[in-house]
Amino acid sequence: MKISVNGEVRVFHGDPRTPLLDVLRDEFRLTGSKAVCGEGFCGACTVYVDGEPMMSCLQPVGVLGETEITTIEGLSTVDELNSVQQVFEDFDVVQCGMCFPGMVMTLTSYLKTNPAPARADVKSALTGNICRCTGYERIIDAVMSMQQTDLETAQ
Ligand code: FES
Ligand code: FES
Repeated sequence: MKISVNGEVRVFHGDPRTPLLDVLRDEFRLTGSKAVCGEGFCGACTVYVDGEPMMSCLQPVGVLGETEITTIEGLSTVDELNSVQQVFEDFDVVQCGMCFPGMVMTLTSYLKTNPAPARADVKSALTGNICRCTGYERIIDAVMSMQQTDLETAQ
């Protein structure tokens, strides 16, 4: 079957029940999406299916049809990080890093719908993403700083 990932059509010959996450990581070598719980609890495997965040460990590839998949590799280039990735790096919030691809995917999507969230909004947006290392306060601090930077840039 054909699967469009990050703007490129790829071919998968295996079982249509295979989770998208396994196809991305094991067949297409797109290992940015992380396999942590494998059961839809942690958010580390989050990708976009037609622009909507989904947990790829729960998505059999056979049901995707002609959708467009975007992974963390599709959000940035070698030369330029996505703005959420950049602020995470600036705030040095990444520890083991297993949760961060999913966090970046979730927050990037969320900030498009709410570019000036309150602290509680960011916390709420991250309820499906579990981090066991950094703690959420620093992550939220980093996201909140993006708004200050935007305001300073606009002045
Ligand atoms: S690996 Fe998919 S939600 Fe945890
Ligand atoms: S940095 Fe390790 S789980 Fe979040």
